[in-house]
Amino acid sequence: MKIVAFSNQKGGVAKTTSCLNLAAQAALKGKTLLIDCDKQANLTKNLGQENAKTTINDLFLGRPFEIVNVRKNLDLIPSSIEFAGIDLLIQGKFARELILKKALEKYRDDYDYVFIDCPPDMNLVTVNALSVADFVIVPVQAAQFSMDGVSIMIEFISGVRESLNEDLTILGILLTHFDERLKISRSIEEDIKENGWGDALFKTRIRRNTAIENSQHKDFRMTIFEYDKKSTGAIDYMNLGKEVLHKIKKYSE
Ligand SMILES: Nc1ncnc2c1ncn2[C@@H]1O[C@H](COP(=O)(O)OP(=O)(O)OP(=O)(O)O)[C@@H](O)[C@H]1O
Ligand SMILES: [Mg+2]
Repeated sequence: MKIVAFSNQKGGVAKTTSCLNLAAQAALKGKTLLIDCDKQANLTKNLGQENAKTTINDLFLGRPFEIVNVRKNLDLIPSSIEFAGIDLLIQGKFARELILKKALEKYRDDYDYVFIDCPPDMNLVTVNALSVADFVIVPVQAAQFSMDGVSIMIEFISGVRESLNEDLTILGILLTHFDERLKISRSIEEDIKENGWGDALFKTRIRRNTAIENSQHKDFRMTIFEYDKKSTGAIDYMNLGKEVLHKIKKYSE
């Protein structure tokens, strides 16, 4: 079982979009589990599971919880707004950073891939996700930039690696909302390289594509492959899927 977390404290950078569409690609290769760790529950809504009986909140509180099957080879632990209060509730608990890790232990043989969608925060929930993950993917919106934000995220990942999870590897930095006609998209790529993270950049960039937005509209709620498999969004996520699975394999050898 290989566990990948999608994390960036910045909102709207395509964490959820990337988590969903890459999980759809992974599910073509093996049993895949999606975990929605965000109280906004966008991943859960994108999969039409907002009325699920139990959620990630139950998992964190040590209660019984259900895993929902959402597609062939693809399961989900949903989230909901009730997860908003979790930080306070687990604050005083023993090993509160390792709740998710402990809960997933018994599923080790059930899944080939686990993809965790993190909230746009550096809170205890994100620490839990990074503590159980083998890999983290950091999506960066190539349209609106703050190099500081990326540096803070990478420092945060290093902090978790040093204190809680020495095996945590940055699988890659992913440029999203990319538009090569825009100067800012190109300069962000340059900035990342100048800061020494060029090797971590995924070769595939996710171009800005309205089909991606439309696929998540409440009237559709599909993966980009189901919505329009010929769209540039589908092509980009298919290429990224190959790159991600290849990198996971390479790092695991
Ligand atoms: N390549 C793209 N082109 C156009 N729109 C996109 C693209 N990727 C994502 N979006 C849209 O951008 C918005 C933000 O994406 P998403 O919800 O995946 O970001 P996020 O990082 O998970 O946000 P949050 O931090 O709020 O959880 C969504 O409306 C999504 O449909
Ligand atoms: Mg999200």
